[in-house]
Amino acid sequence: MTGRQKRIPRVAPQAYEYVRQVLDFGFHNAHSVGMTGRLERQWAERFGHTYGIAHCNGTATMQSALLAAGVGVGDEVIVPAFTVFSTPAAVLQCNAVPIVVDVDPDTWTMSVEAVRQHITPRTRALIPVSICGLPPDLDPLMQLAQTHDLVLIEDNAQCVLGEYHGRVAGSIGHFASFSFQASKTVTCGDGGILICSDDTLALAARKAATLGFKDLSVKPGSTVVSEQLRCQPDYQRHDCLGWNQRLPEIACAVALAELERIEELAAMRTYCAQAWQRVVSDCSWLVPQKTPDGYLNAYWTYTVRILRDDIVWADLLSTFIELGGDGFYGSYQPAHLEPVFASLNAAVDRTPERYPHFAGRLPRYERGLCPVWESIQPRIVMLKTNYFDTDDVDRQADLFAQTLQRFS
Ligand SMILES: Cc1ncc(COP(=O)(O)O)c(C=O)c1O
Repeated sequence: MTGRQKRIPRVAPQAYEYVRQVLDFGFHNAHSVGMTGRLERQWAERFGHTYGIAHCNGTATMQSALLAAGVGVGDEVIVPAFTVFSTPAAVLQCNAVPIVVDVDPDTWTMSVEAVRQHITPRTRALIPVSICGLPPDLDPLMQLAQTHDLVLIEDNAQCVLGEYHGRVAGSIGHFASFSFQASKTVTCGDGGILICSDDTLALAARKAATLGFKDLSVKPGSTVVSEQLRCQPDYQRHDCLGWNQRLPEIACAVALAELERIEELAAMRTYCAQAWQRVVSDCSWLVPQKTPDGYLNAYWTYTVRILRDDIVWADLLSTFIELGGDGFYGSYQPAHLEPVFASLNAAVDRTPERYPHFAGRLPRYERGLCPVWESIQPRIVMLKTNYFDTDDVDRQADLFAQTLQRFS
């Protein structure tokens, strides 16, 4: 997608037809037009797994994966410092301990060496994150998972059609989790999907997402128990604990239509990244996230680091906006420095009897835990790639070039 202007609609045209089909059919307790099933089957197929389980968001997906894997009280789950809080939140919501580890200084994805150093007899799972669209170094992480009998959940909320040594990101771990939240490459406003290939894990995840109903299956779209069973007064419905995290059929209809043009959406993100890259490559004090050989970055954002200490992040932003730019984002706080963790540490200290599963087991979530990411994070610039018109991004890239000249 280079040269001539290209504009794609913000919402897939087919979404209107699919939504209409859902509305025409109406909402029924035990029947639907099958959008959930189609989405689950096609997403799993596209990302190299057998089963798809649609969820209400891309945090719930990870909760289900952890619950399905039996992660709970007293267990540890390793997550990277550079991620959205959803990743450690899913761990905490399972009453397990998030072990936040540092990132690689160049790719900013989970450091394999840091993971190796933090595996203990309590470790049960790893959640590497494809941050900003770049897959982490998944082969050695899978090897560690296999050696230590851990479950590996790829958090691919930000990575749609990224690749790792010829394989699509999402096809490598035991599970992969995706988000359909509004900023994501495939969106239906809010939503998510979990994929995997293991029959037992998939069924457990389906039940984890669907209140632990007994007679669900992993068949695409199998989100309700049959009416014949449910109508019986002596039917015992729930044989395990689960949340209620289904994705409404109407949202599945939109996500399905977006999935059907996924290449076009991914190509638009790449176009945007290339436009930013051309500008950044002329600037000696901005260093992009490194995409190693053999990786394909899906560019949920085009992310760079400011090297010059005399450049104030906020000045760069305000100059860009002054010149007519759309703005950019900074990075989230390093996950372990979000105040919720300090509050949790304080609460456990104050009343350990209320938190027997955390007392003596939670790390101190404080500065110094992940020095690499702590030093880089304040200097991160996340340039947007969710444009739908190549002219818009070309114009933004020009404005950013002018911004950089002001500081040179
Ligand atoms: C890396 C990462 N993980 C998880 C999530 C959670 O997704 P959701 O907002 O759908 O719960 C997001 C999205 O914000 C994300 O960017």
